[in-house]
Amino acid sequence: MRFSRRAAVAVVGAAALFATAACGNGNSGGGSGSKNVEVFTWWADGGEKAGLDGLVNQFKSACSNYEFQNGAIAGGAGSNAKQVLASRLQQNDPPDTFQAHAGAELSDYINAGQVEDLSSEYQDWGLKDAFPKGLIDNLTVDGKIYSVPANIHRANVVWSNKSVVSKAGITSDPKTLDEFIADLDKLKSKGVATPLALGKDWTQLMLLESVLITDLGPEKFSGLWTGSTDWKGADVTKGVEDFKKLLSYSNKDRDTFDWTDAEKLVMDGKAAYQLMGDWEAADLDAKGFKDYGYFPFPGNGNTFQWLADSFVLPKNAKNADGTKCWLKTVGSAEGQKAFNTKKGSIPARTDANPADYPQYQQTAIAAWKSATQVPSCAHGAACSQGMQGAAASALGKFSSDQNAAQLQNAMAAGIAQFAKK
Ligand code: GAL
Repeated sequence: MRFSRRAAVAVVGAAALFATAACGNGNSGGGSGSKNVEVFTWWADGGEKAGLDGLVNQFKSACSNYEFQNGAIAGGAGSNAKQVLASRLQQNDPPDTFQAHAGAELSDYINAGQVEDLSSEYQDWGLKDAFPKGLIDNLTVDGKIYSVPANIHRANVVWSNKSVVSKAGITSDPKTLDEFIADLDKLKSKGVATPLALGKDWTQLMLLESVLITDLGPEKFSGLWTGSTDWKGADVTKGVEDFKKLLSYSNKDRDTFDWTDAEKLVMDGKAAYQLMGDWEAADLDAKGFKDYGYFPFPGNGNTFQWLADSFVLPKNAKNADGTKCWLKTVGSAEGQKAFNTKKGSIPARTDANPADYPQYQQTAIAAWKSATQVPSCAHGAACSQGMQGAAASALGKFSSDQNAAQLQNAMAAGIAQFAKK
């Protein structure tokens, strides 16, 4: 296993120093009676910040007794924030609330006893019927509900620079992996430097996940994270080979790139495509880039790979009442609209009006209803943080050595080590 515990401790140790400097006294108004509500996320910029700002505006009007305090730490998918959070929780210095993905990642915090049961708040706020049952199941452990979902994101979407694509003579979106590869070849032959923009570890995991949905189908794909599909199987080998082929169309400096760096290649016309979650729609909008297209990853059919951001009440939060007002806002129809219209995601609540949403989200709201749903590993729906770390580390290694058997072995070992017993 590449992601050794010692390495993890070292990273967290370094992050702890940063945390002390950056936000150790996050709730400096602290103690009971504090007005501050420190909201810990990784939504620091672009469309992510626009979404957070929307929610904060709603909080300000619905919870005027309290003061929003921004605890955001930049870094896609929480690559920096999660380390800092782990160390703060360990030191019993939790923020008033933090962002956690529904599913296995949330279960990490529940199992560690770090978050409070919100079942009675669900009752008081009428939330039980506001969200789809499947999502409620992902937030529930032993009959108790521990977080309030803000949204549903789709992970398996390809974003394109329309002019780059049409200049290469591509007139329609690819429907299969073979068609996609033919288009990437076309772009390459027309001199496009980076047909497929890519970032580091977790973004590579997202690309691999999309390829595996195509090669294995939704059911076997989901089984990869529960242990029912063998990571060492021949069909997975085929998926890894396809993934390796896709890497050959990507930027060589991918391992140093966050998702926004890869996105910039697309915006600048240096790249044609990028596989990314639909926070990219909001980010491109926030950055004023209009010439973009989108389609589900080729071969995924009507499979919607989902993830959901949710907020929790940590044990020993300094301002539990203020946090509850934040959580109530997150779960409210107004809060979901203020957030999701700007974040690229669709509301977790089922009572939203699609007409209130930008065009991309209208298509996603429709797709979600009829789609086959599979969970995301990179964003915690299917995978615990241990599994995510193991996968990111295995992908980082594969990016340089391209050894399929070693990647499959590392993933199999990661799942075996971290899967719920
Ligand atoms: C995901 C998160 C999204 C988005 C993305 C990129 O983990 O759920 O809301 O922020 O990371 O940073």
